[in-house]
Amino acid sequence: MALSRLMIAPSILSADFAHLADEVSRVERGGADLLHVDVMDGHFVPNLTVGPPIVEALRKVTKLPLDVHLMMTNPEAFIKEFVDAGADYLTVHVETCPHLHRTVQAIKELGAKAGVTLNPATPISTLEAIISDADLLLVMSVNPGFGGQQFIPSSLQKISLARQLIDRTQSHAALEVDGGVKVENAAQIVQAGADILVSGSAIFSTPDYGATINAMRQAGESMRKEVRRTGAVAGRR
Ligand code: DX5
Ligand code: ZN
Repeated sequence: MALSRLMIAPSILSADFAHLADEVSRVERGGADLLHVDVMDGHFVPNLTVGPPIVEALRKVTKLPLDVHLMMTNPEAFIKEFVDAGADYLTVHVETCPHLHRTVQAIKELGAKAGVTLNPATPISTLEAIISDADLLLVMSVNPGFGGQQFIPSSLQKISLARQLIDRTQSHAALEVDGGVKVENAAQIVQAGADILVSGSAIFSTPDYGATINAMRQAGESMRKEVRRTGAVAGRR
């Protein structure tokens, strides 16, 4: 089932880290629904970012739910630290979790919501057996590692397949899309079935974050109305 309203999750990867609290407060005042935090280990992805101390610091300066995306090998070793630091959603990559069911259960037992995600080249079918346990399915629409990349067009078909999987299995999982999301493609991504749009560079490169968040939400919500009215869903065959 699709979420009742579209949610926007700014990714702080593109924020000014020297003024992080201020940047977060600007997107919070601008109407963000979640705060997306990208954790990269320099091993699973070719970049290094932040760890539990930054999540803990963010927890003190915002009421927004913290949506923590773990782009790291062996994420199980850090689940408790991230939940204790204040993560509300903890999302792991199927490519890094040979025991994905155990990892998802461990996240939920600690009281956080469990997300599962996959790289652009990994098929949606890898999530068939876990979707009923997941709270979030994140479709990566760029190869993870960097902000500011171009949306991969074939991701639309993948989002649509993810939507079908969630609906067919009556999973409660929200469908999130991450990578290259901007005002101009928000409608298409929502048409394919997304509930949550992660957006980094397209928000933090603009002077008025609230105006950009609003424009993205409007583009997405009007498409949602259109889909409800006509039943038109992109990428379905
Ligand atoms: C990419 C990260 C994304 C990234 C999105 O590896 O997972 O969350 O910050 O940035 P944009 O919106 O600039 O593509
Ligand atoms: Zn991310």
